[in-house]
Amino acid sequence: TRVAILISGRGSNMVSLIEAAKAPDFPAEIVLVLANRPAAGGLAHARAEGIPARAIDHTSFADRAQFDAALHAALTAEDIDLVCLAGFMRIFTPGFVEAWAGRMLNIHPSLLPLFRGTHTHRQALDAGVRLHGCTVHYVVPELDAGPIVAQAAVPVRSGDDPDSLAARVIVQEHRLYPAALALVAGGRARLEGDRVLFAGDAA
Ligand code: GRF
Repeated sequence: TRVAILISGRGSNMVSLIEAAKAPDFPAEIVLVLANRPAAGGLAHARAEGIPARAIDHTSFADRAQFDAALHAALTAEDIDLVCLAGFMRIFTPGFVEAWAGRMLNIHPSLLPLFRGTHTHRQALDAGVRLHGCTVHYVVPELDAGPIVAQAAVPVRSGDDPDSLAARVIVQEHRLYPAALALVAGGRARLEGDRVLFAGDAA
């Protein structure tokens, strides 16, 4: 399975996916990294790992659809099978999402469907939840709403602020995303309509 990772910033989730894919039995190969910002720190890391990496700068396109078309062209040119969004901070047009339906994953720093959108750790603290975490899901046109592949939970501790909570969640993200990618790329999890079925589940 040929995987492209899309980033916007430091790409810490990208790093954990690259590391996991080095295992000889990992069912996917990271063959491309794309960033919507030329300054994305993750680009240098990917290149240092020998992975083709380039910026497709969203500010150099007249509109969202043209940016998405450039992304689509770059992905299809490399015969990408699966796209992993990792700290990617752009919202796609429905057309792009439909083109990659069932072939695009995202990691979101909350236990979806709770706390969609941004500032999820602040949302969790404001809601007073005792459990928080992260979710890997298939991407659908609606933001942070796709079928869930995997989740990991962390406790919220008294005295937590968004930074301390984020620090606890990101550790789980770095464990969860590689595991979820392996499930999907290895064919042990698959999308059937709007549900994720796992190997052994009755279809
Ligand atoms: C992470 O919390 C991730 O869940 C969210 O963006 C944050 C930074 O991700 N999507 P990364 O370090 O750039 O992978």
